[in-house]
Amino acid sequence: MPIRSTDPFHDHLQRLRPEFNRFVEKMRSADNEDIAALQGPELQPWAKQWRTYFEQKQQIPEALVLEIGSHLGEVILKMAADHPQTAFIGMDITLKRVVKLAEKAKQSELKNLVSILANARGLDQLFADRELDGVLLFFPDPWAKKKRQEKNRLANADFFESLARKLSSQGYFWFKTDCLPYFEDVVQILKDNAWRPSTPVEGLPSQIYTSRFERLFREQGLPSYEGVWLPPLS
Ligand SMILES: C[S@@+](CC[C@H](N)C(=O)[O-])C[C@H]1O[C@@H](n2cnc3c(N)ncnc32)[C@H](O)[C@@H]1O
Repeated sequence: MPIRSTDPFHDHLQRLRPEFNRFVEKMRSADNEDIAALQGPELQPWAKQWRTYFEQKQQIPEALVLEIGSHLGEVILKMAADHPQTAFIGMDITLKRVVKLAEKAKQSELKNLVSILANARGLDQLFADRELDGVLLFFPDPWAKKKRQEKNRLANADFFESLARKLSSQGYFWFKTDCLPYFEDVVQILKDNAWRPSTPVEGLPSQIYTSRFERLFREQGLPSYEGVWLPPLS
């Protein structure tokens, strides 16, 4: 079950019964088990100072990248292994996925990754202005079945207004989707708000990282759409 509250500091474990959901206990004991998974009140000390969080684990990272909807970590685990000087935050709204990602990061001995249970609609409270160097949103839930569902989409004008503040001046937003109407709407919002389309020739967004959903769609012969943008010049 995805979390309901968009308040990142709300204790999501409160309403879950550990006897029915083994991930509750795993999340509660994450710190003792040295599993880098955080939720609710545990996010508060690190919100808006994520470099300090990673500094106590290894060293001040050269860059900070957020993946929204990190799922089981197919993309972010590979990125974190490929880019040890960059710190990665995987965010998802499903407890099981958040815990599993953190467990996999521990198995791979990745110190530059933390998995957080939070809704991306709480971006403002979690990140300081200009704190992020990259944000990935790969195959968000498309809400495409009915026209009226489009209002549920995460990547709307409000989201980009907040994201523009959270990204550093050279920070990038990398978007992929299989849903053409969603892609076209995002392109239009970004254009209307002076985001700059980018074709990265170096660094992480120039490399190929295939997400789980991307692979599934490709296997079915279905197209997907992607782009990278830099925030508007302030
Ligand atoms: C369709 S899956 C895509 C997973 C992965 N990014 C990929 O491309 O394979 C969408 C993921 O986003 C998560 N998600 C949906 N809404 C979210 C939100 N508002 N904030 C954070 N994660 C969200 C879901 O729980 C799910 O894991």
